[in-house]
Amino acid sequence: MLVWSHCSRRIIRPVRTSEVAAALLLRRKRLQACESRRYKSHATNDAKTEQNVIAEKEDKPFYVTTPIFYVNAAPHMGHLYSMVLADTFRRWQQFMGRDAFLLTGTDEHGMKVQQAANKIEKPVKQFCDETSQLFKNLAAEAHISNDRFIRTTDEDHREAVHKLWNTLVEKGYIYKGKHEGWYSVSDETFYPESQLNRDFDQSSGVTKVYSNETGKEVEWASEENYFFALSRMREPLLELFNSRLEDKFVYPYSQFKTIIDSVENGLSDLSISRPSSRFTWGIPVPGDESQTIYVWVDALTNYLTSAGYGKLTGSEFEKSMWPVDIHVVGKDITRFHCIYWPAFLLAAELPLPKHIVVHSHWLMNGAKMSKSSGNIVDPHAVMVIAGVDSVRYYLLRHNILEGDGDFDTERVLERRQADLVFKYSNLVSRTCSKSFSIELALSHHLKGYPIPGTRPDKFLAFQSEMITEANSLVDNVARHMNNFNPTGSLSEIWDVLKKANQYVDYATPWNTESSNISPTIFVMAEMCRIISIVLQPFVPTYASKALDKLSVSPERRSIEYAKFEADMTYGKGANLPNRGHVVDYRL
Ligand code: MSP
Repeated sequence: MLVWSHCSRRIIRPVRTSEVAAALLLRRKRLQACESRRYKSHATNDAKTEQNVIAEKEDKPFYVTTPIFYVNAAPHMGHLYSMVLADTFRRWQQFMGRDAFLLTGTDEHGMKVQQAANKIEKPVKQFCDETSQLFKNLAAEAHISNDRFIRTTDEDHREAVHKLWNTLVEKGYIYKGKHEGWYSVSDETFYPESQLNRDFDQSSGVTKVYSNETGKEVEWASEENYFFALSRMREPLLELFNSRLEDKFVYPYSQFKTIIDSVENGLSDLSISRPSSRFTWGIPVPGDESQTIYVWVDALTNYLTSAGYGKLTGSEFEKSMWPVDIHVVGKDITRFHCIYWPAFLLAAELPLPKHIVVHSHWLMNGAKMSKSSGNIVDPHAVMVIAGVDSVRYYLLRHNILEGDGDFDTERVLERRQADLVFKYSNLVSRTCSKSFSIELALSHHLKGYPIPGTRPDKFLAFQSEMITEANSLVDNVARHMNNFNPTGSLSEIWDVLKKANQYVDYATPWNTESSNISPTIFVMAEMCRIISIVLQPFVPTYASKALDKLSVSPERRSIEYAKFEADMTYGKGANLPNRGHVVDYRL
């Protein structure tokens, strides 16, 4: 039997159902192989078993994005997590010597925002300005290195949305039709009957209908809409997934698998506009003011806007930073990013993002932190109590890519004390003690004082193993980062840090005759310097405080200096008293 299929260039060709079944089987097998590799590397916490999926240096900046945040309420810790993760990817790429660009911002159109503003009787734009500013402040407070803070109310964004819409019309993917269905204002989406729950209220005699997935109420909507021919994109999407299984187009694989299953089960055309009579707070359909563009088409386009899509000509855009290298998204918005977004881009014949990294959720007392349920952790309050980098460290140290995690402020303080104060700050403070002199240790080393000194063989073996590990730290951390795993990176760094502390405990330089101290102080200083250089993308403030304390010049903090003896110019004044702590002492 023959069925009709679209391939990526949209040339229609007949395919045998047996071919389809074989392709499906092959995809399943490859997906299983990818998953088993993932479990192996997860079990050993060893990125060496995984391939490097991030492209080597390219002739364009490394482009990372966070989702843009709804402005219907203030930011919470979950939002900060998306920002910190994306920021760490950006900082890491820059550390590796590549230009990088981080985009974050706010998603300001839609019924949800219009209703939130109406509720408190504020003009919608003023409401957006105020809440958007809260997200902007959060990014600044958490030292997020965003290169642009986009707002969907920005003028160049409207141009980009219109350009994408017109392109999709030209290519024949948009048509007008009637749409009826259950719509959730809160989730800004229609739900099929199979995903709904009904609840009869005895007292009012009214049956309310809710989404199974989000628990949000839905209402029946019947209207004229424009549609995107999503059903035509099933085969091109499956072809795309198939060709990008190994290189983690969607990561982790559990999320990729859910997406593939959902596309295999079939796609219906997507309603992509709403009557302006129902809501006006959005971008009108070009040439038809009676319709407003669906908020998700509007929102997703922000990633193109910032690459200059609305303003640049086709050939100029080809030379821009497009496509995105990493989209960081939460698991609740995968359908939009992993199905709709690639479908729009394929239809518009635009290059696709390289990776979509999906994280799970931070919970509070076992339930998803969300502004609509009111159970949220205020990131500002925790940063004031624990310090910005202690919060960044806690968020990154917990791998919530695979499963949800409970956020607990007490635990932030515990980890801060155990890892940042006792292990990191303590090592730096001991090395910068006023009883030693790093400057002298370096000059002795330059004059050829032997690194080993007069120590037992066991100690020397430990020392040389530790130096080898410090010299491989960048490569080991890079392997984790190239597999979207900052948690693995931090455990790699803390393994070396643990060794460095053991080394100091063993060496007890404070008991050694002063003529013998220099080789040990030199090794301690080198450990602090290398570890701090590698820590910069993760805890930028603590790392730079440590490097300042060690008097490492700002020009010598890049990747090539993260090796033993790569910098012999630091240490001046490092052992003077009162040079401050690496981790602020709060509380
Ligand atoms: N506006 C859309 C995204 C459009 S992107 C083109 C949106 N906004 S949101 O404000 O609701 O969520 C933004 C991001 O925050 C999402 O990635 C979401 O998963 C994340 N988080 C919201 N609550 C979260 C937790 N409790 N934990 C972790 N992240 C969570 O969706």
